[in-house]
Amino acid sequence: MKIFTVLGARPQFIKAALVSKELRKNHTEVLIHTGQHYDKRLSEVFFEEMGIPQPDYNLGIGSSSHAHQTGLMMIEIEKLLSSENPDLVLLYGDTNSTLAGALSAAKLQIPIAHVEAGPRMYDKSVPEEINRVMTDHISTLLFAPTVRAMENLNKEGLFEGVYLTGDVMLDNFKYFLKKAEKGSQILDTLNLEKKDYILVTIHRARNTDVEKNLRNIVDALLIISKETDILFPLHPRTKKFLTEYELMDTLIKSPNIHLIKPVGYLDMLFITKNSKIIVTDSGGLQKEAYFAKVPCITVDTSTGWPETVQQGENKIFDNVNNGFINSDKIINAIRTFQTSNKYKNIFGDGNASTKIENIITGFF
Ligand code: UD1
Ligand code: UDP
Repeated sequence: MKIFTVLGARPQFIKAALVSKELRKNHTEVLIHTGQHYDKRLSEVFFEEMGIPQPDYNLGIGSSSHAHQTGLMMIEIEKLLSSENPDLVLLYGDTNSTLAGALSAAKLQIPIAHVEAGPRMYDKSVPEEINRVMTDHISTLLFAPTVRAMENLNKEGLFEGVYLTGDVMLDNFKYFLKKAEKGSQILDTLNLEKKDYILVTIHRARNTDVEKNLRNIVDALLIISKETDILFPLHPRTKKFLTEYELMDTLIKSPNIHLIKPVGYLDMLFITKNSKIIVTDSGGLQKEAYFAKVPCITVDTSTGWPETVQQGENKIFDNVNNGFINSDKIINAIRTFQTSNKYKNIFGDGNASTKIENIITGFF
């Protein structure tokens, strides 16, 4: 069968790596890269390190406002769907590339399979929430990573075609961690010791685009950096706003803050596994912190992964004061969070990719 996969952003390349490998055993895959992420460090590096086949088409859409970006993607995807005539469209996660693929396929009445269906933040001010809800409701096969995700879908009346597969990110974590542990030199290069630094990633629009929020997050990091090293790979969106708000110099000059460019997946797994605490607003990194058994402080008021909070490994807190993120609340969370260390297999057994391939094969 011919499967038409639409990818566009960093977490999607990562999620697709092992599923694509499985699918190509029995099916033909046509890979579309929308070009939403285009920097080498946000795109090419994952194709190289994770052995993802080169895209058959790169739409080169790039960055713009939500509707403009999604609309341009849809125009190009529709053309390709008409010429390629696939049996199924395969989508991952919750980016604008996901939504563009979903709407284009649904209008042509091509069945859609959605990997990572069902997480909900119940907050429509989050652009990704809109993308997930819309995509789930027009998908034919919905692959839920957790029981909670499946229940969320059921609550919205979605039962048919819903499968509990586990999380493909756990498959990747298990498969690539051994390689990372053998090959990564990043901590030596940075002169950092294992379990002696906090790993930070920030890129959500709410945290970066609002000046006062980003300023308060930076203030918290500056104070915490007096107590411990901080390793901070910068997403380009965050770099752009740190520069615009003139916050970059202070961070660069702070001796214990190690600002680095975005890293490849293997280095990322290595610095995740060996950090003592993770401070992040990334959905994917919250899960990887759980897989790596590293305490996670989430810089957001809600999460798509409440399972990790319930297990006592991820801290979500009211981080706002007078409508803006509050530095003291972040500092306090970092200083005081104690995990429960009661890990359960809430994300499955690391074989989600095989299960997904089996379900897709059975569908035809
Ligand atoms: C997107 C996804 C988000 C996901 C994130 C993963 C949406 C709505 N958001 O957010 O769900 O968590 O990817 O990292 O789809 N930029 C570059 N180089 C690039 C790509 C982006 O410099 O290769 C800069 C541009 O200034 C751009 C900004 O980053 O305007 C934001 O990029 P965009 O893809 O719109 O959103 P992300 O914040 O990356
Ligand atoms: N990641 C990476 N290099 C980095 C930062 C993140 O490889 O410099 C990986 C991270 O390990 C996870 C994924 O990117 O697998 C998460 O993507 P991101 O935080 O961009 O998006 P989200 O998960 O929030 O949608």
